[in-house]
This record gives sequence, C-alpha cells and structure tokens, in this order.
Amino acid sequence: MRQLRQFLVLAALLTAAPLLAGHLALAQEARAQEVQGVPKVQQLGKDTPSSTDSVGIYREPGPNSPANPDDVLLYQPPTGKVTGRVSIPDEKLSVIVQPEGRLWREFRTVWLRYGIAIAVGGMAVALALFFLIRGTIRIEGGRTGLTVPRFNGFERFAHWTTAVSFIVMALTGLVVTFGRSLLIPLMGHSAHTVLAEASKVLHNFFSVPFVIGLFLIFVLWLRDNIPEKADWIWIKELGGLLSKGGSHPETGRFNAGQKIVFWSVVLGGALLALSGYLLIMPFFITGIGGMQIMHVIHGVLGGLMIAAILAHIYIGTIGMEGAFDAMGKGDVDENWAKEHHLGWYEQVTGRRVPRNHGTRVHPAE
Ligand code: HEM
Ligand code: HEM
Repeated sequence: MRQLRQFLVLAALLTAAPLLAGHLALAQEARAQEVQGVPKVQQLGKDTPSSTDSVGIYREPGPNSPANPDDVLLYQPPTGKVTGRVSIPDEKLSVIVQPEGRLWREFRTVWLRYGIAIAVGGMAVALALFFLIRGTIRIEGGRTGLTVPRFNGFERFAHWTTAVSFIVMALTGLVVTFGRSLLIPLMGHSAHTVLAEASKVLHNFFSVPFVIGLFLIFVLWLRDNIPEKADWIWIKELGGLLSKGGSHPETGRFNAGQKIVFWSVVLGGALLALSGYLLIMPFFITGIGGMQIMHVIHGVLGGLMIAAILAHIYIGTIGMEGAFDAMGKGDVDENWAKEHHLGWYEQVTGRRVPRNHGTRVHPAE
C-alpha cells in the first residue's frame, strides 16, 4: 500500500514538473514582450500588415503569409520616410527608412520579371509563327553569283564588336533578372553564385567594347540613316514583308526598318550605358532615389532592346536569304541588292536598272 502511495506521488511530480517549467517559460516570455511594448500575442493573418522572417528581414504579407498562432509581430514598418541625424558630412546615411524602396522592390522582383519574360518570350513566339507562315524571304531573281560590296572590314568590325558585347550583356543581364526565381531552383545555390558573380563581372567588362562599338556605328552609319520622306512609303507597306512573291518598296543604303534599328540601338544603347554606369558607381551623381529610377530605365530598356534585337537577328539570319552575307563576307548578291536596296545599288555600281522585275519605283525616288 505504502509502495502504491509512493508511486502515485512520484508520477504526479513527473507530470507536473514539465508543465510548471513550460508555464514559467511562457510567463517570462510574455513579460519580456510587455517590457518592449509589444502586445502579448499578435497573430499573423489577413489583418496583419507585415512580418519579419527568422533572420529579421521585413516581409510584406502575401497569400502565403503564415497564419500560425505562435507567430509574433516583431516589427511594424513605418509608412513614411524616417530620417535621423548624422554628425558626418555624408547626409545620405541619415535616411533610415525610404518607403519608395518598397515600390522599387515590387518593380524589381515582380513587374520587371514578368515584363521582360512577356516581351522577349512574346517576340520569340511571334518570330517562330512568322517563320512558319512566311518562311525565309527568298531572293526572287535567284543568286547571280556576282556580288556588290556592302560593308567594309572596319564597318563589320564595328558591327560585331557592338553585337557580341550586346549579346553577352543581354545574357548576363538576364541572369541577374531571373537568377533567383528561375536559376536557383534549376541549378542550386552554389552553381548560381558562381554564374551570377561571373555574369556581373562580364556585364561590367563588356560595357567598354559595347560603348566603343556603339560610337563607331554611330559615326560610320549616321549619314545613311537620316530619315527621309521615302521612308514613309516603306513603313506603310511594311517593307513588302507581308507580300509573298510581291515587290519590295525601293530604298537607299538602309530602309526605314533598318533606320529604326539604327536609332533604337544608338539612342537606346546610349541610355543603357548612362543608366548602367550610374548603377556601377553608386551615389556618384544620383542618390538612392535616382539610382532606383536609373535601374527602372535600365531594366525596361534592356528588356525592350533584347526583344527588338531578336527580330533583327532573325531577319539577318534565317528570315531573309542573302542578308547575312552583308555582315559575314561584306558582299551581297547583285539580285539581293537590286531587290532590297535598288537606289543604293545604282549609286554604288553606277548602273541604271529598268523598273520591270518585281522592284518598284515610287514617286519619292
Ligand atoms: C547574331 C547576331 C546578329 C546578326 C546575324 C546580325 C546581322 C546583321 C546584318 C546582316 C546586317 C546588315 C543588313 C544589311 O545588309 O543592310 C546588320 C546590320 C545592323 N546590325 Fe546586326 N546582327 C546581329 C546582331 C546585332 C546586334 C546585337 C546589334 C546591336 C545591338 C546589331 C546592330 C545592327 C545595326 C545598327 C545594323 C545597321 C542597321 C540595320 O541594318 O538594321 N546587330 N546586322
Ligand atoms: C554600358 C553599358 C551597360 C552598363 C554599364 C550596364 C550596367 C549594369 C549594372 C550595373 C546592372 C546592375 C547589376 C546588378 O544588379 O548587380 C545592370 C543590370 C542589367 N543590365 Fe546592364 N549595363 C549596360 C548595358 C546593358 C545592355 C546593352 C543590356 C541589354 C542587352 C543590359 C541589360 C541589363 C539587365 C537585363 C539587367 C538586370 C536588371 C535587373 O533585373 O535588375 N545592360 N546593368
């Protein structure tokens, strides 16, 4: 009997001890929270404006915000700008909270990714469909075997310097944009770290040949890219692109479509370089707000230009027979020159072509 009593007391003690310890711990935690002025238990859920994660990083509540009753709101972000005072000349360090940063982060992590994916992916799909429907634009008169010089060695050097740098910058820029959302799940953190670091170095490094190439093509081709009245006819007829077996509007050395490519590359490239260098040198000229604006310009323009250049690469390769020769060898087939740039062909060869074979003369010529 005595043994039974001893056993019951021992069992009661063993059960009560952890309960008591747990209760004491909870009470202590609640006291600590009250001391910091934070409500005892504030659950995260639909009505909760924000939270911090386990390492203290502020998180906006999203559809996946935890609704665990044990979660405690530790930090309520201020809605306005918060500045302090500094005793050193660097005034920017006095800004503690810059609310516009949240809008910028939303742009960087959501809108820019969707925007670039839609622009570049949409262009790729459109070009694939166009290729399936229209196929390669052939040289209607067939190849003659006779050629006309179109771009000299220096012009091709300028083109390929710009083109190769642009392609490297486009690929490395896309690694920055889609690294976290797309590449980390695919290749893991370690491989992505190596790729992202290399991409950043390459992106910075190739900015130099890109700017040099840009300057060269601007100087070399400016004269041939001045807009003129005849360009309107080309634009209205979309360069004869949609007319199968039909005629091409007549053009000079560059047609209106190429002039649009030229000015987009020169002006867009200059703006990309300006915004990019301001990002490379933080706080050199702009403050944090200015850098956010530069980043928005850089990201949007970068995405748009990648999409536009995809179309350029398409037309310069599989889209049009004989086009690549111009930048590859420097010479083009005589019939290609007559069909696509009749005015220019007559100018460089000094020959006059009777207007009766698919090409067309219009009042502007
Ligand atoms: C694989 C990539 C590329 C190919 C195959 C290519 C091909 C060509 C060809 C064949 C031409 C001459 C067209 C003609 O005879 O009139 C040309 C011109 C030109 N390319 Fe490219 N290109 C490429 C990439 C780029 C890139 C990345 C840029 C700039 C970002 C660029 C900028 C230009 C410009 C400004 C012209 C003169 C205007 C025009 O013809 O549209 N190209 N390219
Ligand atoms: C002189 C030329 C350029 C300079 C100095 C430059 C510089 C920069 C810098 C500093 C960044 C930020 C990288 C980071 O967040 O660590 C960046 C990002 C980026 N750049 Fe460039 N860049 C230039 C040209 C280009 C070109 C030609 C393209 C497009 C073909 C491009 C596309 C991008 C893209 C897509 C991003 C990522 C934006 C993001 O998701 O945050 N950049 N660039």
